[in-house]
Amino acid sequence: MTAAVNVQQAVCIHRTSASEVVALRGADLTVEEGELVALVGPSGSGKSTLMAMLGGLLRPSAGRVEVLGQDLGRLPERQLLSFRNRDVGMLMQGPERNLLPYATVRANLDLAQLGSRASRRIRRDRADELLDAVGLAEAGGKTVRTLSGGEQQRVALAVAMAGGPRLLLADEPTSQLDHSNGVRIAELLRQTRDRWGTTVVVVTHDTELGDSMDRSLAMRDGRIGTEGRGGERLAVIGRDGTLQLPPDLLDRFPPGGRARVVRRADHIELHPVPLEDEGSS
Ligand SMILES: Nc1ncnc2c1ncn2[C@@H]1O[C@H](COP(=O)(O)OP(=O)(O)OP(=O)(O)O)[C@@H](O)[C@H]1O
Ligand SMILES: [Mg+2]
Repeated sequence: MTAAVNVQQAVCIHRTSASEVVALRGADLTVEEGELVALVGPSGSGKSTLMAMLGGLLRPSAGRVEVLGQDLGRLPERQLLSFRNRDVGMLMQGPERNLLPYATVRANLDLAQLGSRASRRIRRDRADELLDAVGLAEAGGKTVRTLSGGEQQRVALAVAMAGGPRLLLADEPTSQLDHSNGVRIAELLRQTRDRWGTTVVVVTHDTELGDSMDRSLAMRDGRIGTEGRGGERLAVIGRDGTLQLPPDLLDRFPPGGRARVVRRADHIELHPVPLEDEGSS
């Protein structure tokens, strides 16, 4: 079976009239179908850019982005649009970006289900079920802009899930929630995977949400550097052979410096090389 997400050496350059920012510099990522993955990392490390790429909102400047068997870098615009509508549910960072503020919660959910072939009755039941799952069973008739930030965030997640996507992408789904609602969302994501086999990728600073996922990937400087699995932290070797050192080692190995690599029978040693020695080695 092929992976749900297969990203190889993805590069993304954001161009504005004034500047160019390289947001992804050779990111590699594989997510299996039905896997729950968290992306963590400092501000500006490229998390939202990678999510936008997985959701087909941004094309890679170089490298390959394959999602649910589609090569998104090459997919014609029309098919990309139907991929986005049919296969992907996306919660963008900042709940208000995902919702029509002057429409009711119910209308926002209806809109998200437009492409669905299910009957009106089934769509309505699904919307009710989702509102109940995010703890807003009574909010269907309310206008979005009258809701609190946390309530909007929960509606936005329900909207992202309304079409029954195969891949759910959620950028900071719990940033505005209190603890108990955060726990509820973590449970909802897991249940969704267990019940529908949905693949879920979340960006989060919430360690509790991160820990509830199958795997946690740390981004730094436009790449995936380390991977956490079952309490262990593993460095990820990129397809070009690069290895990001854990941040707590950077005082010993300053970026741009040199390291001596020594191969031993059962392990590899890395020795920092002081600057003054570099010329002689
Ligand atoms: N549309 C854009 N135009 C220009 N630069 C951009 C654009 N979007 C992102 N960037 C830049 O790309 C880099 C990565 O941004 P990105 O939003 O992916 O980071 P992030 O990890 O999601 O950060 P945060 O945790 O703050 O949300 C940053 O330097 C950012 O300033
Ligand atoms: Mg972001």
